[in-house]
Amino acid sequence: LWQGGPLRGRRIVVSAGPTREGIDPVRFLSNGSTGRMGYAIARRARDLGADVTLISGPVALPPPAALTFVGVESAEEMCAAVLDVAPSADAIVMTAAVADYKPVRYSAEKVKKQPGDMTLVLDRTPDILVALDAVVRDRCDAPVRVGFAAETSDLVGHARAKLEGKNLDLIIANPVPASFGGDDSEALLIDRTTVDARPFGAKADLAGEIMRRVHGLLLERDARIHGRSRP
Ligand code: C5P
Repeated sequence: LWQGGPLRGRRIVVSAGPTREGIDPVRFLSNGSTGRMGYAIARRARDLGADVTLISGPVALPPPAALTFVGVESAEEMCAAVLDVAPSADAIVMTAAVADYKPVRYSAEKVKKQPGDMTLVLDRTPDILVALDAVVRDRCDAPVRVGFAAETSDLVGHARAKLEGKNLDLIIANPVPASFGGDDSEALLIDRTTVDARPFGAKADLAGEIMRRVHGLLLERDARIHGRSRP
């Protein structure tokens, strides 16, 4: 059942869920991502026959059957896991809500409360899609890259800037908080030239639409690879 689909033989990496950036042994910085969108995409890619690696931050969902599951915690761990497999993949769908900042110092001792304010100093985490682009951008067989953009304003403007800045083939823009948590979301599928607005609906259906677009992008990539390798 899982071997005969249109994505058979394609290696697809999907990231999902939040990351956790440790403060001390009992505290961390994170966000409310449930992993539902990424898990729906991973399951759909698997059901279409792809060989799927799901790289997931900590979520409450069980790892889906019949795919390779890699559990990670921090943005740095997720970055290492993605860079380990994505450069040799055919496509990556970066659904994870990666933390942009982490505490400068991790305290091995539990931080004690004290009177008055306390300041937490933060450092930037690596941008995983930018790091991946640096490794693959000169290859004609660079993996198809899909990102997400959760935005509270100017959905199309911010998403297009990310599409270009991270050198993506497709970006899915979600208005927040409407699309965070829950089984439904609203989305715009944006590429270099088009904006396709999807009504509020099931994440499973959106996953199907995203994989349909990824399939089309994989066929374009095939043409690019074969076009250049002919004498
Ligand atoms: O810039 P922003 O975080 O909004 O971009 C969202 C897209 O970039 C998502 O696809 C997300 O998974 C990815 N991302 C990343 N590394 C980060 C932050 C976000 O790959 N450090």
